[in-house]
Amino acid sequence: CAVRHYKFDVVMKNTTRLCSSKPIVTVNGKFPGPTLYAREGDTVLVKVVNHVKYNVSIHWHGIRQLRTGWADGPAYITQCPIPTGQSYVYNFTITGQRGTLLWHAHILWLRSTVHGAVVILPKRGVPYPFPKPDKEVVVLLAEWWKSDTEAVINEALKSGLAPNVSDAHTINGHPGQVPGCPSQRGFKLPVESGKTYLLRLINAALNEELFFKIAGHKLTVVEVDATYVKPFKTDTVVIAPGQTTNVLVSADKNSGKYLVTASPFMDAPVAVDNLTATATLHYSGTLDSIPTTLTAPPPKNATAVANSFLNSLRALNSKQFPALVPQKTDHDLYFTVGLGINPCPTCKAGNGSRVVAAINNVTFIMPTTALLQAHYFNIGGVFTTDFPSKPPHVFNYTGTPPANLQTRNGTKVFRLAYNSTVQLVLQDTGIIAPENHPVHLHGFNFFAVGKGLGNYNPKTDPQTFNLIDPVERNTIGVPSGGWVAIRFRADNPGVWFMHCHLEVHTTWGLKMAFLVDNGKGPNQSLLPPPSDLPKC
Ligand code: C2O
Repeated sequence: CAVRHYKFDVVMKNTTRLCSSKPIVTVNGKFPGPTLYAREGDTVLVKVVNHVKYNVSIHWHGIRQLRTGWADGPAYITQCPIPTGQSYVYNFTITGQRGTLLWHAHILWLRSTVHGAVVILPKRGVPYPFPKPDKEVVVLLAEWWKSDTEAVINEALKSGLAPNVSDAHTINGHPGQVPGCPSQRGFKLPVESGKTYLLRLINAALNEELFFKIAGHKLTVVEVDATYVKPFKTDTVVIAPGQTTNVLVSADKNSGKYLVTASPFMDAPVAVDNLTATATLHYSGTLDSIPTTLTAPPPKNATAVANSFLNSLRALNSKQFPALVPQKTDHDLYFTVGLGINPCPTCKAGNGSRVVAAINNVTFIMPTTALLQAHYFNIGGVFTTDFPSKPPHVFNYTGTPPANLQTRNGTKVFRLAYNSTVQLVLQDTGIIAPENHPVHLHGFNFFAVGKGLGNYNPKTDPQTFNLIDPVERNTIGVPSGGWVAIRFRADNPGVWFMHCHLEVHTTWGLKMAFLVDNGKGPNQSLLPPPSDLPKC
């Protein structure tokens, strides 16, 4: 196994999209940022140097960080942010993982422009469990705001209202053809007839679940969130922020140009946001002047399209890659996730109220010392361990709304013994608007054992669970007006953030953390912090 060194200089860079320019925060002046390559088993050292006026931190989304929570990255959860002019080396080993993930800033809204791909190849000489592609291509989906995203969110927090939606979606940094900016070119994916391509799809958007489609070509799904799945063919991939999906595409035409689209799955709660990003699959030898074969993206709220994709996902569950689903669980947790309204006398708009988000009616308040440091060094008064295992009021989605919509503020964690097994049902409350919540758990992969619409029924629903080959991932959409059940083993000591990966919902408080105690055996404890760990 190798040691790989990377240097990430966080710098401002003037960037033009949608025919207008703005300075953005980037890594090494690139948007999207550089791809981090490694092999399973490698140790990765990324020196992040902060040259901008903001505090920064970087998260390696989906990397398990076994015993190395210090390198996970969420600001004020596992580390204090890197101040202007300082640096920090993220040092971690990739254990038992291979596939596509992403890295992104994990503070404020900086991840809108500070993100990139993580490509983990199998160990040398270990083949993929699917036919070897001729070529591999990273396809990063994201969003673009014409204005500064920090200003967008700060304005929303002041007013109590929802922030502006983005002005465009992007494919590898480019919106493609959009009205009002005809000179702009989209991403071009050159292919040769007869060859097979592995597309490593990543959704790095802030607030949008996306559909991805290529005109005239089927996509064979082989992996999600860096776990192998039973291959299946689809026209459309649905991908939530924080999720990744690897697909094989056969260039089975002789020539031509084919439209590639990334379009929104759900309506944004307040504003209408229609923009579809476009790119072109371009067969070699095809003239630019040849018209592009078009495709219609699925309509918004096409739940049937999304469900047919999501319901097809199964863990590969082969001899080499077994699905180690916990069959019995020590913890049976039921968390409601959703938005609500709280009074806000100082809010300028919104009739003296503001939108808040909560898990089990707890709106998470960010601490000013990182939770992991508070835990490791026994610093009191930073967090409490009384995160509730179920909501304070009986929740009923189809009945009258809960008597008390008011959320309580708190910096609460849920404590788990080392190696205990957890079943967690995430129930959408749909109190303000029906919305999917892509919930991401740091430090673990989990198995998505069940899902349904309406209220979760603890008596009958577990009988429908798939405990054999459920898909394994790190981010899962809690269906609008429904629930998902996940299972995982708490085999990673540390403090692990769990939150909605729609950044606006995280900002409003849809987040919490699990604290996993050290085990008693060798190699079952959190490692000591590195000496350059930033201070708060
Ligand atoms: Cu990709 Cu806590 O985030």
